[in-house]
Amino acid sequence: MTTANETKRSITLSDISVTYYGRASEVRAVRNCSLSVGKGDVVGLVGESGSGKSSILMAIPRLLPVGTKVTGSVMCDGEELTGMSERELNVRRWRRVALVPQGAMNSFTPHLSIERHITEALEHHLGISRTAGRARAAELMDIVDLQRGILTRYPHELSGGQKQRAALAVALACDPDFLLADEPTTALDVITQKEVLQTITRIVRERDMGLLLVTHDLPLAAGVCDTLLVMKDGCMVESGPAGDVAANPKHPYTKTLIEAIRYMETESSS
Ligand SMILES: Nc1ncnc2c1ncn2[C@@H]1O[C@H](COP(=O)(O)OP(=O)(O)O)[C@@H](O)[C@H]1O
Ligand SMILES: [Mg+2]
Repeated sequence: MTTANETKRSITLSDISVTYYGRASEVRAVRNCSLSVGKGDVVGLVGESGSGKSSILMAIPRLLPVGTKVTGSVMCDGEELTGMSERELNVRRWRRVALVPQGAMNSFTPHLSIERHITEALEHHLGISRTAGRARAAELMDIVDLQRGILTRYPHELSGGQKQRAALAVALACDPDFLLADEPTTALDVITQKEVLQTITRIVRERDMGLLLVTHDLPLAAGVCDTLLVMKDGCMVESGPAGDVAANPKHPYTKTLIEAIRYMETESSS
């Protein structure tokens, strides 16, 4: 039987709009969008570049540039995040909702080892000592399918796929309930992309986490997600079970997205 408490284990966005203000213009990047990711759900948010995917994702932990206007509601496990102070939000970031940001593999600090990236996160967010953090760092390498020897290496000594797995390990450090991953595999070759994505979804399913996966690659997302949400020009134009959206797209834009990726794959293999 599902208790009231269990039914609240989700991130739910209702009627979210995001507007950026430039010197002379404003950009309405997200327009009245709603979505929900429950624990155990793997949800793909797809759309072409500039459709508003990163903006909506970053609105969840409220990590958008200062001055950006966000309206609507962001609920996490029954708590309203909008209106919370930075201090209150900081307790929830990393522990409740962790982020693998776009370009995560380039966001490492060059002079810190992979282990230090993890132990710093543990120290900063959970108050775990560096010594105690080392054991957790080793465990995280096992979880993301990396050799423990990687821990002593520096970011530039890793391949693209290893770096992305290490970025995932950092995001998982505080054992979050929800993972937000923004184009986590875009910079990788096709085979490594699939492998890393399989690792992410395996971890999410094994730990009964919720995943919001942002990607411009609809077929790739359809292969690993339960649900797909399609964004165009800041609006959600289609949503449904991943298999249905990929096999029977209702919106012409969704069809275009599928065909564009297929075309690119044919071109690159010919
Ligand atoms: N910091 C910003 N300032 C102004 N406009 C922005 C900013 N970030 C994104 N945008 C604009 O918002 C729209 C949506 O961008 P984004 O959310 O990054 O899309 P996606 O992740 O789907 O590529 C685009 O038109 C983009 O140019
Ligand atoms: Mg983006």
